[in-house]
Amino acid sequence: MATRLFHLSDPHFGVENEAALASFAQAVADEAPDAIICSGDLTQRATHAQFDAAAEWFARFDCPVVLCAGNHDMPYYNLWERFTTPYKRFQSLYAEVGSGFESDDVVLVPLVTTVRAQPRFPWSDGFVRKRPLAGTVRQLRGMIADTRLKLVFCHHPLLAHDDAASNPTIGGDEAFAEIAASGADAVISGHVHIPFDQKRERGGHTMRMIGTGTLSTRLRGSPPCYHVLTCSRDEGIGVERRELDPE
Ligand SMILES: [Fe+2]
Repeated sequence: MATRLFHLSDPHFGVENEAALASFAQAVADEAPDAIICSGDLTQRATHAQFDAAAEWFARFDCPVVLCAGNHDMPYYNLWERFTTPYKRFQSLYAEVGSGFESDDVVLVPLVTTVRAQPRFPWSDGFVRKRPLAGTVRQLRGMIADTRLKLVFCHHPLLAHDDAASNPTIGGDEAFAEIAASGADAVISGHVHIPFDQKRERGGHTMRMIGTGTLSTRLRGSPPCYHVLTCSRDEGIGVERRELDPE
């Protein structure tokens, strides 16, 4: 038996794609995955109303729902709150509908790639700070003898998905190399609204980098989509991409 994870990202409640979300929810009801994972940008502008809409939508599922915050999930209009308690709204949603997940086949390990501010624009791009990376690496190294698959999940791709010369994620190259060296099988992410599945290399270590698209109306040249990840110790990670009607 394998573990099946439904991976969606960037639903951006506020500008969500209702038909795409309905199709995803129907597939969950029909196929009963072991868990759902959403790699951030749950909301468009991190308003209380948008978090409430996201919480209401995620609350319908019976299986574990694993979540991380995206750059859109920190207060946008309230700068005081953005700087003092950037994850408060996300954390209350997590307390309501979020959970961790592991099975006989796979362990999910979080990595934070969002920051409240950074010394460049846009602030929306990824930034891997030393402390969160150290926590992720510690967790991976603690499981080095564990033969299950290890999936690191974060909001921003650690490397440019299109292999551009410059990496929009600050610290992404080093993070990729360190995570790969610590036994992760893949890092899964969202943010760019374009799906991909690549084997990449940094610092002599190779690892899968798998990003899914968006279930919002903010399309960037790819239709809305989500991934079904089939994880088994013998077969590795299978990726089924499900593209939905943009309308
Ligand atoms: Fe994002």
